[in-house]
Amino acid sequence: MPRTKKFTREQLEPCLLPDIPRGDPIPPIVWRELFGNDHGVEVEIGFGKGLFLTTSAAANPEINYCGVEIERKYQLYAATRLIERGITNVCLACGDGREILRDRIAPRSVEVLHVYFPDPWWKTKHRKRRVFTPEFVRAAGNVLKCGGRLSIATDVEAYHGVMTRIVYGMGPAFRELPPPLPSEGKDESDYLTSFERKFRMEGRPIYRAAFERTEASFPDTLPQDPGLTRPFKEFDKYNSSPPPEDSST
Ligand SMILES: C[S@@+](CC[C@H](N)C(=O)[O-])C[C@H]1O[C@@H](n2cnc3c(N)ncnc32)[C@H](O)[C@@H]1O
Repeated sequence: MPRTKKFTREQLEPCLLPDIPRGDPIPPIVWRELFGNDHGVEVEIGFGKGLFLTTSAAANPEINYCGVEIERKYQLYAATRLIERGITNVCLACGDGREILRDRIAPRSVEVLHVYFPDPWWKTKHRKRRVFTPEFVRAAGNVLKCGGRLSIATDVEAYHGVMTRIVYGMGPAFRELPPPLPSEGKDESDYLTSFERKFRMEGRPIYRAAFERTEASFPDTLPQDPGLTRPFKEFDKYNSSPPPEDSST
């Protein structure tokens, strides 16, 4: 990622959410203070190189975008792209999207929550890193406005099944919408995200879904996480023979 060093940290700061020093109280994010206006806010969790945020924010200057990414190098890479293009309606946080959604974003304050190509984390010992869980969907349902949308995409059919089943498990709190249509892929930037571009160029199918947050409350008990099992064909694709349980990547 060569362009990360093009600007100093100070030059990138206008589009970075300040970190919270360890041990300090966790302040809520106040959108009006952050963006200086009352425009609607869309949030992306796990933005990677930031293609979605960059293209969407440039096309929709009347919308504020907040991205949350756990890897600092991607936060700085995406910030570099934003500063290069003079895009000012995006704020990039570095942290765990699950925690930021749960602890820092005000209830009913987000128009759209985007989660694209989250890592499946197949190994049992890594499972706790998986972003899309029942707790995450409850936090998503809390921050979304009534009528707000949850938009997801993955190349992993089994993870798509898990994600949609968790949302269905929230009962009438979410209503399924028709899945978003893919872009035409006319040029390098005409893809939802960098991962989508990579997978579509490889000819792999993409599984998409969208849900609307309704007025309904959540069920009394959270739906169970259906769990993610790597299908045999995935083993086949990456290995000459199936690995013993939990040794897959
Ligand atoms: C497979 S990549 C997809 C990146 C991007 N959405 C795309 O489609 O090109 C998953 C991204 O999620 C980030 N990520 C993983 N766990 C996260 C978490 N708990 N909070 C925020 N970001 C996370 C990873 O660092 C990585 O950039």
